[in-house]
Amino acid sequence: MTNMRAPLSLGLFMPNCSNGYSISTYKPDPDDWTFASNLRIAQAAEAAGFDFLFPVAKWKGYGGRTNYLGTSLETMTWASALLASTSRIQVFSTVHVPIFHPLVAAKMGGTLDHIGNGRWGLNVVSGWSEREFGQMHLPVIPHRERYARTADYIEIVKGLWTCEPGTFNHHSPWYDVTDGWVSPQPVRRPHPPIANAGVSEDAKNMAARLCDWAFISLPDVAATATVTGDIKARAARHGRSIRCAGYPFVLWRDTEREVEQERQRLLAGCDREAAENWARGLAPNSGSFDDFTIEMFTLGGGALPVMGTREQVAAQIDELYRAGLDGMLMVMLDYYEDTVRFEREIMPLLREMGTIP
Ligand SMILES: Cc1cc2nc3c(=O)[nH]c(=O)nc-3n(C[C@H](O)[C@H](O)[C@H](O)COP(=O)(O)O)c2cc1C
Repeated sequence: MTNMRAPLSLGLFMPNCSNGYSISTYKPDPDDWTFASNLRIAQAAEAAGFDFLFPVAKWKGYGGRTNYLGTSLETMTWASALLASTSRIQVFSTVHVPIFHPLVAAKMGGTLDHIGNGRWGLNVVSGWSEREFGQMHLPVIPHRERYARTADYIEIVKGLWTCEPGTFNHHSPWYDVTDGWVSPQPVRRPHPPIANAGVSEDAKNMAARLCDWAFISLPDVAATATVTGDIKARAARHGRSIRCAGYPFVLWRDTEREVEQERQRLLAGCDREAAENWARGLAPNSGSFDDFTIEMFTLGGGALPVMGTREQVAAQIDELYRAGLDGMLMVMLDYYEDTVRFEREIMPLLREMGTIP
């Protein structure tokens, strides 16, 4: 029987923020957030055959000794420069629904997709952080309403990208758009991929109905098949399909002993104040992070630890793919070095297993 499923899409959860992503003072390359460094990593990823790059959108840090994610490159402007400096790899931006009006996001997206000639994608996040939004006096509204507004947002962006410019109308409690005009529309037809990041009931229902990708958090490898199966079944009920991407923290060394030493260095450097601020802001009302430990937040900001020798890491990646993950936004300890090593040490094993072409 032929396997009709697309191969695993490999992406990097890029270090566009300071201290991304371990909430720890142990950081081999503390300046990896700079644009020069992001560009070097992006070009190495493209040369290595990675499929996409993905940022995190943050407006303020999380305190503690690291001021976790406190210095960050805004992701629309970040993507425009990366798209202009690459030729094959896809680049996502992340917008917070309360901050960018959907027409502004659609307009910027049309521009970005022209800069990248059809290589740009949009991740829409509902916004959860009073710490970040408070400085702009933007309220974090209740969870259910948050996702109702996000659904409207995505419908508006799609409408502006697919209807004849000047003909799109939308009127709801959240937005009024009259004869909405976005030109140029994106190069990619019918529109660039739209992702949502979240795994609460509200997020799953919304993504299943409207998104091309669901970016999900996973407490462990064992939970993957249930979560991806659930999201894909919800999409099927709307007569559509959706792809799921997770974010593993991939860390591999020649021996398990060396991996354990790196893990212990990260844990010893735990910035507990920042980790608690992060977990306190992210977890309530969500349900998505109930099984996550401070250790998981310390190691990779909530990324799924995928650690071991190169064979063990490749086998776990393959297991995640077989359990329904279609893509991975990988978190790394030392991005440039690990991207180069990933091509040399892990990709050949993934090819042998048929996980990637
Ligand atoms: C892969 C991934 C990427 C995310 N990126 C961002 C981001 O850039 N900015 C942000 O404020 N929240 C981000 N989030 C948080 C989600 O939007 C969401 O609020 C969180 O996962 C809680 O889920 P819920 O909203 O469904 O309860 C991300 C989540 C995931 C899983």
